[in-house]
Amino acid sequence: MPSPLPQRVRDSKVTKLVTAPPATRKRGLDEYILENVEDMTKENMTKENKDTVLDASSMVMEPKQKKHTSDKQNPPIKSLPVVESVNAFPVDKFIDYYVPQHIRDFTISIPRPTTTPTDKGQYDTYSLQIDSSSSIPRADLESCFLLVKLTSSEMYKHSTTGWSPAQKKKEMKLRDMRYMLLVRTSSTAEPEPKKGTEKRARIASGGRDIGGFLSFMVTYEDGIEVIYCYEIHLAPELQHRGLGKILLGYLEEIGRTIRLRKAMLTVFRANESAMRFYERMGYREDEFSPKPMKLRNGNIREYDYMILSKELGSKQTTKSDANNTLDVVW
Ligand SMILES: CC(C)(COP(=O)(O)OP(=O)(O)OC[C@H]1O[C@@H](n2cnc3c(N)ncnc32)[C@H](O)[C@@H]1OP(=O)(O)O)[C@@H](O)C(=O)NCCC(=O)NCCS
Repeated sequence: MPSPLPQRVRDSKVTKLVTAPPATRKRGLDEYILENVEDMTKENMTKENKDTVLDASSMVMEPKQKKHTSDKQNPPIKSLPVVESVNAFPVDKFIDYYVPQHIRDFTISIPRPTTTPTDKGQYDTYSLQIDSSSSIPRADLESCFLLVKLTSSEMYKHSTTGWSPAQKKKEMKLRDMRYMLLVRTSSTAEPEPKKGTEKRARIASGGRDIGGFLSFMVTYEDGIEVIYCYEIHLAPELQHRGLGKILLGYLEEIGRTIRLRKAMLTVFRANESAMRFYERMGYREDEFSPKPMKLRNGNIREYDYMILSKELGSKQTTKSDANNTLDVVW
């Protein structure tokens, strides 16, 4: 999922929007906000959010009470807008508040493509792990990069954007970027039985198999709060099994949980398979997608990418959504 318009997708900054008390201004504001978010999560939010749903629009950042300081010296901090609030959370809090339990528990067993006789009858089991650009193990980020390179570098090379590994890696490390990783957890002769809701142990990083990933950011696009899908890539043997639909559906669910208005993404027009996929998922050309331009010489310049979006509305997670009966896929 390329984003050829890096300038359009902003790496949101909290610093512009917070009126911090003078005493705390000297320290990093991010640090200050994180401290307060910690307090807020412990004291104010736990009771309302047992079901992992947090309405970020209701979050008001109150400064910590400082001893011997009056209200006049410590004016209240303005409430943080949704995007800044969400991005102020470290990944574990983000998961606690915005990632419904069934997404965290997602697991799927897939028959391994038989390239050697020992592969026959083997199943690979994948589970989902949520990370941020700062928490993702370096080896996993590299695996994600290699997947983008494998599935899409040719498409980039033939586009006006061009293929730049350095640029792509830089984008993948943007501060507010988050990841849904499909991590292979085992290979067995039988599909693994569906697990309960226990938290899966995080397996050691390094050298593990990433079958696919979706990267996203909660950000502003033309002044609107959106969840932006930066990349969605599956290893070739995992494509065309409905997994992309599941990942994109999860992105939308997270967006709804945060109460964002839209899910957005950028796609190369030449990527017909992806265009069909998004269309089936209900995405349409966004009003801000660049329109063809008439050049001075009279020629029309068509952009080689489109911005697609989908209104998220207020669809609630249904029981059947929440039920991981996703052994469907084949
Ligand atoms: C684009 C992508 C994420 C879609 O995910 P996916 O899991 O392959 O998507 P789906 O399985 O839901 O649908 C894709 C195709 O598989 C077909 N399909 C879905 N389930 C299927 C099944 N069980 N058996 C056979 N075909 C199936 C769909 O009909 C669709 O066919 P079409 O493309 O001919 O219309 C994935 O194909 C991919 O990683 N592509 C390469 C990277 C890329 O282009 N990413 C997008 C960048 S913008």
